[in-house]
Amino acid sequence: MKKITVYAVATALALGLCFAGATFAADEKGPAEMTLTSTIDPAKKAKPALFPHAKHQERLACGECHHSKGADGKQVAYVEGQKIEKCESCHNKAAGMPKKLATFKNAAHENCKVCHKAKDKKLAKCNVCHPKKKK
Ligand code: HEC
Ligand code: HEC
Ligand code: HEC
Ligand code: HEC
Repeated sequence: MKKITVYAVATALALGLCFAGATFAADEKGPAEMTLTSTIDPAKKAKPALFPHAKHQERLACGECHHSKGADGKQVAYVEGQKIEKCESCHNKAAGMPKKLATFKNAAHENCKVCHKAKDKKLAKCNVCHPKKKK
């Protein structure tokens, strides 16, 4: 009897730890819905992009989009619990990035659009992310 209880408690603990390892607190996951727009490079015609963050988090690893930068300036792969910065804090013209990654627009298109295109051509249409303003 005692053995069973100990086993049950141990199992519950193990499961608890498992879940704790895989679950993020809401604030660590960032907003569920975002409207992305450049703050450094406000283009003449801003084109805000809709981004259902939570929906992407359900099926993709954080490291599909998030990463950081080493002292040598090279990309460092995502590690759980790392500080998450705005894309634009690294992907800007002053940071010495290659041109195709030197603005929020370019880095985002490289990340978002390339995956969308690979999944389904229709997902790469401009208005999926940049819906026309309702009048
Ligand atoms: C999968 C999502 C996605 C698709 C598809 C997409 N974009 Fe974007 N685009 C973004 C994101 C994210 C940004 C960066 C945030 C921002 O500036 O709006 C961006 C930025 C831009 C910007 C810069 C806007 C600014 O305010 O600086 C332009 C212009 C733009 N996109 C045009 C297009 C055009 C044209 C197409 C279709 C050929 C397109 N985008 C397709 C996600 C997308
Ligand atoms: C499909 C791409 C994608 C995936 C997958 C993704 N994120 Fe994000 N996340 C973004 C983008 C884009 C932003 C907005 C960055 C910006 O404003 O420059 C963001 C913002 C955030 C922020 C807010 C940062 C801030 O400064 O406001 C947090 C926290 C965050 N993500 C955590 C996570 C975690 C944890 C996961 C995995 C469970 C995850 N994200 C998965 C693309 C993604
Ligand atoms: C702390 C700095 C930093 C932040 C924040 C950052 N990046 Fe990057 N990123 C880099 C560096 C460094 C590289 C490598 C650049 C090179 O190839 O020269 C890179 C490469 C990339 C690449 C091309 C390689 C690949 O992994 O596909 C894409 C796309 C990209 N970043 C998108 C994003 C997006 C989207 C965000 C925000 C969700 C983001 N980055 C946030 C530093 C950063
Ligand atoms: C690794 C792949 C991948 C990346 C990276 C990615 N997406 Fe997506 N996204 C998808 C897939 C797959 C769907 C379709 C999901 C569905 O139909 O439920 C989708 C759907 C969407 C939708 C439409 C949601 C809806 O309700 O129909 C928007 C808007 C969107 N993504 C914006 C973005 C933006 C902005 C980024 C970059 C910050 C991004 N995505 C990065 C795979 C990706």
